[in-house]
Amino acid sequence: MDAKTSPGQKDAGRSIAGAVGSPIPHDSGHLHVSGEAIYTDDIPEPREMLHLAVGMSSRPHAKIRNIDLSAVREAPGVVDVISAEDIPGQNNCGPVIADDPIFAPGLVQYVGQSVFAVAAVTVDQARKAAKLAKIEYEDLEPILDPRDAVAKESFVLPSETIKRGDSKAALSAAGNRLKGSLNLGGQDQFYLEGQIATALPAEDGDLYIYSSTQHPGEVQHLAALAIGKQSKDVVVECRRMGGAFGGKESQPALIACIAGLMANKTGRACKLRLDRDDDMTMTGKRHDFVIDYDVGFDDTGRIEGIEFMFASRCGMSADLSGAINDRTMFHCDNAYYLENVTIVSHRCKTHTVSNTAFRGFGGPQGMFGIEYVLDEIARYLGKDPLEVRRRNFYGIGERDITQYQQKIKDNIIEEIVSAVEENADYQARRKDIQAFNDKNEFIKRGIALTPVKFGISFTATHLNQAGALVHIYTDGTVHVNHGGTEMGQGLFTKVAQVVAEELQIDIDRIKITASDTSKVPNASATAASAGSDLNGKAAQAAAATIKKRLIKFAAEHFHVRQSDIEFENNRVRIGKESISFDSLVQRAWFERISLSSTGFYRTPKINYDRTTFSGRPFFYYAYGAAVSEVIIDTLTGENRILRVDILHDCGESLNPAIDMGQIEGGFVQGAGWLTSEELWWNSEGELMTHAPSTYKIPTCSDLPVDFRATMLESASNREETIYRSKAVGEPPLMLALSVFHAIRDAVASVGDEQCRPQLDAPATPESVLRAVTALRAGERSS
Ligand code: MTE
Ligand code: HPA
Ligand code: MOS
Repeated sequence: MDAKTSPGQKDAGRSIAGAVGSPIPHDSGHLHVSGEAIYTDDIPEPREMLHLAVGMSSRPHAKIRNIDLSAVREAPGVVDVISAEDIPGQNNCGPVIADDPIFAPGLVQYVGQSVFAVAAVTVDQARKAAKLAKIEYEDLEPILDPRDAVAKESFVLPSETIKRGDSKAALSAAGNRLKGSLNLGGQDQFYLEGQIATALPAEDGDLYIYSSTQHPGEVQHLAALAIGKQSKDVVVECRRMGGAFGGKESQPALIACIAGLMANKTGRACKLRLDRDDDMTMTGKRHDFVIDYDVGFDDTGRIEGIEFMFASRCGMSADLSGAINDRTMFHCDNAYYLENVTIVSHRCKTHTVSNTAFRGFGGPQGMFGIEYVLDEIARYLGKDPLEVRRRNFYGIGERDITQYQQKIKDNIIEEIVSAVEENADYQARRKDIQAFNDKNEFIKRGIALTPVKFGISFTATHLNQAGALVHIYTDGTVHVNHGGTEMGQGLFTKVAQVVAEELQIDIDRIKITASDTSKVPNASATAASAGSDLNGKAAQAAAATIKKRLIKFAAEHFHVRQSDIEFENNRVRIGKESISFDSLVQRAWFERISLSSTGFYRTPKINYDRTTFSGRPFFYYAYGAAVSEVIIDTLTGENRILRVDILHDCGESLNPAIDMGQIEGGFVQGAGWLTSEELWWNSEGELMTHAPSTYKIPTCSDLPVDFRATMLESASNREETIYRSKAVGEPPLMLALSVFHAIRDAVASVGDEQCRPQLDAPATPESVLRAVTALRAGERSS
């Protein structure tokens, strides 16, 4: 890919290394591939460190009658054991509501819930000892399924409704009407580095915690409350995570609180690193949903009225489920104008692990709903699904207000869809596929084009703020810190590029440093894809403050006007002279000019009233579209992705190489969600798919045979974001809805022209085979 012209390149004849817009590699790329990058588990272990293991509940819903931990205590190597009554402070690690116990307080609410923790000299000793507990349970009735929860009105939070227009009247007046129910599976984040924290006791009962977390500030706050202290008494640090994907937004608090409590009690360093099976059993995932719809439409496929019921499995506590389900309600329009709409959202309390953030944060599930409905409409009318999708796109200057009253001002849906339709040769290939399917009885192909429109900003307005801290040392090198965290997405590289650009120095003069609650306080989680938008601006502000001081100093020192001073290419032009950046810094230091500054940013223009579900929750939207073609074997249900064409909007990309990695990686992760990753609980509420042997994430051989991803050219963000870039972390995941619909297209070819197969997600071979078998047996979805 061509490097885009960066602002640096435009201003100066020669550009600095690592300018904004240059496709430089991830700053840790060489360390990732050589195994030298330091993750939490690689930090040199302090003297006499203890290793922890967690004793978990084996019942989904039960009172604890008695816990006998004597065998655990007596096991070899064991130093201490703690449970609910040993917590000096608050027994809670819930991020929003205090309904998430660190250790079960006499009541267990899911299989895998933490009941106690054991500290031993080695990891093995701790894990073996944890299995020796004798816990007597008195079983209570569990609720294990969202439908059952709705029937019993078992909710973690109140149900919500968004209404616009009159869906009832529109439905009864519509010429055509379809109703249906969908099952949509969840997804495990499957970060390569599992959940981990190491807590070091510090002076006077304080704690220093290394945590693999997207939200160091929250870990700090909750660990402090657990040990009965305050935020000032705990420091949390995270250099990088080995992947997070939303799974480390709230979940690390439990791990860090346990490590912190044990360190606090024993006075020794304590590390808790979950084994993969325990990680999958104990920590939250993407919410699975049941979705009901009732839609009325005209003969062209335009929706006249629609009603959605979304019921998600939140698990045993609220966690982030409020905001996640809100985002589902905000994205069940995707790229389509829904004039008369009622959306009901139930946040179901089930006796399963509390579900949490996962790339897209509820958005993908909402978009799944509307894309399925549009596919249904098209098949019912015997039309190309793309034609029906297009019929419903948001307009420009009309039909441009969302169901939550935000006016869409940056609509590029049609532009992006027509471009990818053409690049992928969609129309011709659709005909070829029909001809292929007519000739082949058992092997079938399918194709689909789906768009993405994803709202950027935390929907909780107050979270859209960020801070940074920049120091310049006397040798002209720079230390950059900000509230964001690095999980592989390249945030630290992008922020360093912004600082390099602002100061006009090569990026190798900049040290990117670990997230640290004592450097930047009260930071939001690195989430909502807003990491570079928020922290990029905050770091830019910090660098600009120091630059302003340097300019003021140079003007006085060299007797020139401030406007005659310019930073370019590692040098500073001062009137007719030019000196190196380093020497200006040295002189400024000598004259006692401060070379350190904080920076702060708050996203402008957003305002949103959650009580009425209206306003402007999103600063802007990120767009994309994809065409996927698949092939299925109707005798086994096996499927392969043959070709994918993506066109994605990154605005003016801060780093096209990193953004392309996000586009491809996000898409593949989405394809895994919708085709192979299946979470399966048995009737006892036990997750049976808790290791890669039974839970199938995509591997290299699952990549599309022909994978063509491109970024939209000349796509400046219409809002004034950092260098007019757009957030890219989550939106590409939803491009994979095209894979699901291509599979559905292939399955539908088994039936007659208007056949509407019932295909549940994920479209695993079993799910595809079920749908095909139903069609062959002459059943029709209705
Ligand atoms: N990319 C990698 N490699 N690893 C991750 O864990 N998380 C995703 C996305 N891309 C993730 C990733 C999620 S869920 C989000 S919200 C964003 O990155 C967060 O980072 P950003 O805001 O800096 O894009
Ligand atoms: N997205 C991701 N994470 C979040 C959000 C959001 O909108 N709100 C709170 N945490
Ligand atoms: Mo991403 S789900 O917002 O951490």
